[in-house]
Parts: sequence; C-alpha cells; structure tokens
Amino acid sequence: MPESFEQMWAALAPVGRSGVGGGYFRQPFASAERECHAWFVEQCAARGLRVQSDGNGNTVGWWEHAGASGPAVLTGSHLDSVLDGGAYDGPLGVVSALAAIDLLRERGIHPTRPIGVAAFAEEEGSRFGLACLGSRLAVGSVSADQARALRDRDGVRLEDAMSAQGLEPVLGRSDWLGDVGCYLELHVEQGRDLVDRDVAVGLASSIWPHGRYRFDFDGEANHAGSTAMADRHDPMLTFAMTALAANKQARLSASAAGARATFGRLDVGPNSTNAVPSSVTAWLDARCETEEELAGLVAAIERQGLDRAARDGTTLAVTAESVSPAVLFDTDLTRRLAALGTDRPVIATAAGHDAGVLAVAGIPSAMLFVRNPTGVSHSPAEFAETADCLAGVEALADALAELAS
Ligand code: GLV
Ligand code: MN
Ligand code: MN
Ligand code: MN
Repeated sequence: MPESFEQMWAALAPVGRSGVGGGYFRQPFASAERECHAWFVEQCAARGLRVQSDGNGNTVGWWEHAGASGPAVLTGSHLDSVLDGGAYDGPLGVVSALAAIDLLRERGIHPTRPIGVAAFAEEEGSRFGLACLGSRLAVGSVSADQARALRDRDGVRLEDAMSAQGLEPVLGRSDWLGDVGCYLELHVEQGRDLVDRDVAVGLASSIWPHGRYRFDFDGEANHAGSTAMADRHDPMLTFAMTALAANKQARLSASAAGARATFGRLDVGPNSTNAVPSSVTAWLDARCETEEELAGLVAAIERQGLDRAARDGTTLAVTAESVSPAVLFDTDLTRRLAALGTDRPVIATAAGHDAGVLAVAGIPSAMLFVRNPTGVSHSPAEFAETADCLAGVEALADALAELAS
C-alpha cells in the first residue's frame, strides 16, 4: 500500500524547516530541496511510476498504464520554497498528485493516456532570482546561455550548484515536455477568495502580469557622526523615498483589483551602522491586472526615484530582471474542470506559477486552488485544513480521470 496523503505530508514536514520565523527554507539545488526530490523519487518508485530527471533539475514520475498512449496529462508543482516560507506552496501540488493517482487506482480507473507528475525546480526564484527557472528552461523560454550567467547571492553558478548536488546539468529544453498534451497544477490559494466564498476548491482563470526589477542606488560613503545631514549623498534615503513612492503609486491604481509594489529584498554597501552607505540595491516586485498598467506603475516608480536621486545627489539605475506576461488559462480545459464540481469559483491570481510558464509556451494549462484559511502565503502562517487538502486530491483525481481517459 502506498503512503496516504497524511503519511506523505508528515514525512515531508520536517525537511528544511529552518526558517528564522519557524517556516521552511528549501533552497533550490541545496540539501533540503534535493531531499524533497529524493523523497519524491522514492514515492514514485513505491507506485511503480517511471522516474525521469532532466538536466534542468526537474523530476517527473510517469504512470503509463498498460496501453496508455497519446499526449500525456501532466500535473504537479514544485518542492522549493521562499526564505522562511510555508509548507503548502508547491509541495501540496506534488503530494496531491501522488495521492490522486492512488485514488484513481483505488477506483479502478485505467487511463488511456500517460499521466505525469512533475516536481519543477527553482519555482520561487529564491536562489538564482528568476522565478520558474526549471519550467522556463524546460519549455525553452530561458536559454542555456541566460541560465549559465545566473549566480546566487554567494556568486555560485547554477551549473556548479547543480553539480554540487550530484546532478548533471544539461540546461535547455526538456524532451519529455514534448509528450505533454496539457498541464494541471493544484496549489494552495494565496489569498482569501475561497475563504470568503466558503468553498474548499476553486480554479484559476488567469495570472496577473508581473515582474522583478533591480534598483541600483549609488551615493557616497561617509562618517555617520561627522557628516552633516546637508552634506550627505545617501542612497538609503533615496531608496526609502522610492519605497514610499512605490507604495503610494500602487495604491493609486485605477483598477478595481488594485496593483502591487513590493521591495522585499535589499543589499546595502558597506552595511555598517556608523557609515552613510555608498550603495543600496533593492528589488521591486510589481504586479498589475494588465501589462499596460504594470509598465506604467514601474515607470512611475522609476521616475520618482530618479527625481529623488537628483535631490539627494545620488544615482539610480533600474534593470528589469524578468517580466512575466499576463496568462489566461485554457478556457475549455477550465470549463471542463469547473463542470466536475458543483460550486467551483474561477478566480484570477496575482501569484506566479509553473502553470503560467507552460500556458505561455502553448501547453493548454489550468489550475486548482485549495482554500487557505489564513489567506497568508510565502510565510509560515500559510495553511490548509487536511479535509480541504483531501477535497483537493479528489478534485484532482476527477480532473485526471476526465482528461486522461
Ligand atoms: C511565486 O510564488 C510568486 O508568485 O512570486
Ligand atoms: Mn510561491
Ligand atoms: Mn507555488
Ligand atoms: Mn508561485
């Protein structure tokens, strides 16, 4: 008997629980995240799934029922986390996929198409800065050369990080994706929509366009005691005023759904308490309902940052590190999956997912969301009740039966 959902969840629970706030840090291509991939390989083997590891760090388990052929139905998610993240963002989709296969077998369903379970690498971009790196490499929307240029915060190259974990990096398009006809990702909801509607499971309609932008502020290091306030060229001050401008600008959004602007990561040089800094690098995460609004939001924040830099005698240079377009999930697929349940709201999300990358690459994709009573994500407070997770497994099994038979 393969392990139940609850047993699998309990086995993964201690892995990488090292965040300062009691959360998880499953950094891609480091021990905890690779332990999760090794665990996934064992779980696939226990179910007789054929395991494939590609040169991009992604792992896939295939259920090829006797006689199954044609385009495969792919499901899954990711096993990495943000710094001090929650347990559910990513792993819920992988564990639910394995449990859904068990449920289909219990029900005596014989899929006529192969079903794959994918665990994508570096979905959060927490190490190499580029979200959905594993799926982007797999579909070819990031080239091997672009990936080779990536460095983590300690200067470690992607390929070296992979090799250090015993992987053989072969960066580039993953052959196995060529056999995939559609992708369905189950994910914990990262908001309160399902809580407010009092339903356990919903579907995603779309993903907001979003991007990551590096703001490099430069100024002049000087003594914190002997430098008069009027004599400073303080990039931290320019940054602080730019962060206020970002907050104000996002709140000014004319769209009913609003806009988001977040500075969540900062590098300060030289980072001394008693010195005016010489440099501040800040990363802006911006998200809006439309691409036009996103471009306008970022341009307005940049303009206000430049104005402030001129006043402070500092400089600002902005680099777009990655911009993800608006994603509209496959409407036919979503309609078919909505019809399998009685009350399945279809909601837009401002969070990024591998399903978005696959959708943009032309693979019909859809998403199932499981209610999160806290509404909080990318934090240890992220949660889902076991009963809701099991409802998610059932919904996923129903969907796989519909798509793979
Ligand atoms: C990933 O979860 C993202 O939306 O940043
Ligand atoms: Mn996430
Ligand atoms: Mn996720
Ligand atoms: Mn995500």
